[in-house]
Amino acid sequence: MSLFRTKNLDEMIAHSRKPSGLAKVLGPFDLILMGIGAIVGTGIFVLTGTGAVTAGPALTLSFIVAAIACGFAALCYAEFASTVPVAGSIYTYTYATLGELAAWMIGWDLLLEYGLATSAVSVGWSGYFQSLIAGFGLHLPVELTAAPGALPGVTTYINLPALCIMLVLTAMLGWGVRESARLNNIMVAIKVGVVLLFILVGARHVEPANWQPFMPFGYHGMLTASALVFFAFIGFDAVTSAAEEVKRPERDLPIGIIGSLAACTVLYVIVSAIMTGIVPYQQFLGIDHPVSLALKHAGENWFAGFVDLGAILGMTTVILVMAYGQTRIIFAMSRDGLLPQRLSHVHPRLKTPFFATWLVGIIFGLIAAVVPLNVLTELINIGTLAAFSLVSVAVIIMRKKRPDLKRAFRCPGVPVVPALAVAFCVMLMVYLSAFTWVAFGVWLLLGLVVYFGYARKHSLLNK
Ligand code: ALA
Repeated sequence: MSLFRTKNLDEMIAHSRKPSGLAKVLGPFDLILMGIGAIVGTGIFVLTGTGAVTAGPALTLSFIVAAIACGFAALCYAEFASTVPVAGSIYTYTYATLGELAAWMIGWDLLLEYGLATSAVSVGWSGYFQSLIAGFGLHLPVELTAAPGALPGVTTYINLPALCIMLVLTAMLGWGVRESARLNNIMVAIKVGVVLLFILVGARHVEPANWQPFMPFGYHGMLTASALVFFAFIGFDAVTSAAEEVKRPERDLPIGIIGSLAACTVLYVIVSAIMTGIVPYQQFLGIDHPVSLALKHAGENWFAGFVDLGAILGMTTVILVMAYGQTRIIFAMSRDGLLPQRLSHVHPRLKTPFFATWLVGIIFGLIAAVVPLNVLTELINIGTLAAFSLVSVAVIIMRKKRPDLKRAFRCPGVPVVPALAVAFCVMLMVYLSAFTWVAFGVWLLLGLVVYFGYARKHSLLNK
């Protein structure tokens, strides 16, 4: 039965109202920007190329389907985040509801999601960075531009820009959350500005004929693309992992989660409609900078350069927020004894989990440097979809188990809305490849081994 032991929810809530050592500095505006910072990145700037080839102009629908799945899940997230505002996102909520083993597995799943997401986005960042400096006639030695085996027929050893950006952002996070949040806000403003610029400039060049046929690959193509571009929405959940550093979490967390998701959905649908309206979708085959390509196609080279720059900043903020979210989940798991204590040590002067920040920064920086991660986008998606499903189930369970609990935000339509969240997430998972399912299974098995080998014995609940 100890596999299902839960943390005491009331203690946790009481604890969350006490000072934890982490500085409480974030407000609702910071959170929305943090959400957008985590959300708008590789998904819209890189994956829309493959998405357009897979779905055709129906890519706009693919985004809407993915957004619906996220929207239902976001409502569930918001309920939990406003009820139990403690660091660690859904890992913590699961611990209070479904028990220790489920919590461990979800935490393990999130480590994969956030960790590989930082690596994958660093690789995308590196590509845009290199294309930007190439515009000034600068080129790195080719051996240092990509992971071994990433470019067929070319000898490459390491993706140096990807490693460097990871280390620079790690240093920033280790230095202090307030400084990071401020820089993040500036970069997010520029990123959103660039997306709006694309919309304004691109809209004039749309040829409605390019939208015909709208769905060349039918529902199958549209949903396959949806399972891929789901990646573009990942990140709004990272907002919840900041819970302990928020000034008024009960009110601000739901605003942050739902606000950032809604804003991004509108942007994505418009951007993908304009992209596929400017360029016939077939021409996106193999293109890793589809958004700026669309502007170049329209003869707007100058604006295309701006989009490249915005993409770089956009991806920087994604890495920043993902890395931040990951260290806070590790912090929570370590504080519960499931991971070594050292990982939840807060630096006395900087007030950040300094050691954990550097540890994951270095590990996932190295992964970004030597592993060609593009194929792993799907792995990140399946991990996230699984996590979303679980949190939705947990909302239903908590309503039954603890109807008395004070919920600052209540998910509407329980149990229908959480059930729809699960249905949409599972549907998207079904459209992911067999390889992805196997790799995900292996990661979960590894998680079980670590749980029974370490976490279970060291859990604070043993006391
Ligand atoms: N949603 C994030 C991105 O698209 C992960 O880069």
